[in-house]
Amino acid sequence: MQVAMIGAGYVGLVSGACFSDFGHRVTCVDTDTAKIAALKAGDIPIFEPGLSELVATNVAAERLFFTTDLAGALEEAEAVFIAVGTPSRRGDGHADLSYVYQAARDIARAIRRYTVVVTKSTVPVGTGDEVERIIRELRPDAEFAVVSNPEFLREGAAITDFKRPDRIVVGTEDERAKQVMTDLYRPLYLNQAPLLFTSRRTAELTKYAANAFLATKITFINEIADLCEKVGGNVQDVARGIGLDNRIGSKFLHAGPGYGGSCFPKDTLALIKTAQDHGAPTRIVETVVAVNDQRKRAMARKVIQALGGSVRGRTVGILGLTFKPNTDDMRDAPSIAIITALQDAGAIVRAHDPEGVEQARLVLSDVTYVDSPYEAATGADALVIVTEWDAFRALDLKRIRALMGQPVVVDLRNIYRSDEMAALGFDYSSVGRELSPG
Ligand code: UDX
Repeated sequence: MQVAMIGAGYVGLVSGACFSDFGHRVTCVDTDTAKIAALKAGDIPIFEPGLSELVATNVAAERLFFTTDLAGALEEAEAVFIAVGTPSRRGDGHADLSYVYQAARDIARAIRRYTVVVTKSTVPVGTGDEVERIIRELRPDAEFAVVSNPEFLREGAAITDFKRPDRIVVGTEDERAKQVMTDLYRPLYLNQAPLLFTSRRTAELTKYAANAFLATKITFINEIADLCEKVGGNVQDVARGIGLDNRIGSKFLHAGPGYGGSCFPKDTLALIKTAQDHGAPTRIVETVVAVNDQRKRAMARKVIQALGGSVRGRTVGILGLTFKPNTDDMRDAPSIAIITALQDAGAIVRAHDPEGVEQARLVLSDVTYVDSPYEAATGADALVIVTEWDAFRALDLKRIRALMGQPVVVDLRNIYRSDEMAALGFDYSSVGRELSPG
């Protein structure tokens, strides 16, 4: 099948590369000429495991193409995906749909044959209706259907998530469009992934509901972690104890410094706004957002406490800056709020991240970036694990201990064992695993 993908960002690039890998002929379109030139030259603008190899293979097989020319890409396309950004609008938290609507206008001008217009970007309920209206108004003669097909992939595991999804949600009531979507996803569908057809509005809402639910799950276990610290419990055991109940499920129950990233913070806010506008406020999600915001500053206080109440003039080594491992993405990373709060309290910050330093430089100032965890530990009065990169799991901790000015480790991702750290002579604290009541 012939597919056009508008937007060569995270979702567009991964989806485009994966669809081409299934054997479809995919053209990724972006208005950013520099990005398209780089992609044509084999340069992938994001760090995502396996993506550059996947792109290279499919470009070489002449199934994956990059262009700025939408009209050309649409000529033969049976489906065109809108996978442009929907950032939070400054000021009010609503999703900014200007890129989506611009894509709709561009499609309207270029459409030539029956085309399924698929919104893959995360968009508020009713956006599909507006996309349809825009195209219809500009091109009353055009034959098309607008479908919502939200994407659930995670950064860092994007290719596996796309190829082995738990489900594929397709929002449309148009029979012809249903057939096109079924053909497009046949390789996954044959792989047992359920293809769930719903109304377009339901599909749009499903994406927000999924992200808000996961953000709630994380925030819930984070609050239980705080309680564990007060009463002397172990949050990992609690998570296991509740997660084995199939009704709850064991995933997304890792306590930590609060969720971040390009989706949860923006999508929870957008859902809250939509719900308020429709007079059906999602009060649980409102609380989740507030609790998660406060948590990041609370993590800085935890570090200050571990250093006896003051970090003024003290050196804090940070391990991990990105919002999670296996990405270079710094968007809404907890490290930003934590480091800023520590600096406000007078700390000197040295930081190491395997992939995120380039992006971190754009959002954090006065940080000394170093090339290894050992350099981050050198002379530090405290070492804080903020992101659980695998490379931090098997460090030479004796060496770390010897390099540090003071052996204080604050592990915000629970990657080490309390007893082992104590045996090595560290003054170690983690999240929700304090052994005795405070
Ligand atoms: C998320 C959704 O998982 C994905 O389905 C959607 O398409 C986009 O948003 P992503 O933002 O890439 O994906 O990362 P995810 O792995 O979900 O992590 C989000 C945040 O939650 C990270 O900051 C992570 O550290 C945090 N998290 C996740 C926890 O603190 N604990 C957990 O148990 C899981």
